[in-house]
Amino acid sequence: MHTPATSLRARFEEIFPGDANREIHVARAPGRVNLIGEHTDYNEGFVLPGAIAFETRVARSVNDSGQVVMRSLQQQEEFRFATDDPAPNPRHDWTDYIRGVLIELRRGLSAIGGADLLIDGRVPMNAGLSSSAALEIATALALLQAGDGVFSPVELAKLCQRAENNFVGARCGIMDQFSSISGRAGRAILLDCRSLRSSYVPLPENVEIVICNTMIKHSVAAGEYNRRRAECEECLNFFKSKGAEIASLRDLSEENFKSWGPSLGEVLFRRCRHVLKENARVIQAAAAFEDEDLAAVGRLMYESHTSLRDDYEVSCPELDLMVDLARKVPGVYGSRMTGGGFGGCTVSLVERDIVERFKMEVAGKYEDATRIHPEIYVTTLVDGAGMEK
Ligand code: GLA
Repeated sequence: MHTPATSLRARFEEIFPGDANREIHVARAPGRVNLIGEHTDYNEGFVLPGAIAFETRVARSVNDSGQVVMRSLQQQEEFRFATDDPAPNPRHDWTDYIRGVLIELRRGLSAIGGADLLIDGRVPMNAGLSSSAALEIATALALLQAGDGVFSPVELAKLCQRAENNFVGARCGIMDQFSSISGRAGRAILLDCRSLRSSYVPLPENVEIVICNTMIKHSVAAGEYNRRRAECEECLNFFKSKGAEIASLRDLSEENFKSWGPSLGEVLFRRCRHVLKENARVIQAAAAFEDEDLAAVGRLMYESHTSLRDDYEVSCPELDLMVDLARKVPGVYGSRMTGGGFGGCTVSLVERDIVERFKMEVAGKYEDATRIHPEIYVTTLVDGAGMEK
């Protein structure tokens, strides 16, 4: 799923010819799939994602121009910007993730010097698999080689989240950046998005994680995501105004929801119900994984999808169809949309022996119904970001 390290370095030499003795560092950062716990992270709740075998790599060498010069193997153009630009403006394209990270790094460090960057982004874009977080984390790691600060993985995840919140303008939570940096092979991450404490949940041997890309492009920066966040804040303020002592929706008790919830208004009531129940499902799913009770995990995944479709309203007809098709294949434990929604991918837990049949049936029927050829990826969960040797 990526260009080998040697050939990325070779491409770097071609694109940025220079001193043969200079150091070229390569940072890598994976995308993520979320098994359950959607739209809970920015409510300080729980999520259960894992890092996936698609990754973005950034090769970097210092330059003395005071500029960051960016090229990507997937794009034609070259971009340059000054590392000390006092008032940078977003361009509303992929370069914003890099500039956002640079700005946040500069806030935390004395200086970041000029650098040449070559990006090889292999996480499918706009598919809900966190290509942006992978780009941010890989960029931060690559640029840090040129800086002089040391961040812990959690600090780095938060820094990259700020880059996306402040410069890109998407008010995302912490899940994607955290997963990209903290992934572990063969394990999902149970993350408490308030304390940022996490533990690893092993996946049983006989099951595969299958990601089905509806090919409907989603964009988290688009208004609907931020609108959901604002709705959650409205719910929070409502319950606080009633006297509930809560810091986020994660703290809301069933009792308070039952007694005051109906006065929220129909839409906010459903948004809030999703968050409450989804948090509970994450904890139950992590326990069911520990017990190797895949039937229970699967049920929770279907419930999660229904809630995202009906209560949170972040699904779309193609995602619903993909889940329905998966559900009909014997040997599928569970399936749901993954990531921000409005397009992108589903994640299914599939018995290993039937994966080929699953791919054929689901892809065939999806294409028959939509005339869209879906991409299907069978992925392992992998280790989080780091530097390549
Ligand atoms: C996007 C955001 C995450 C999270 C999910 C929904 O991926 O970047 O922070 O909110 O949507 O669970």
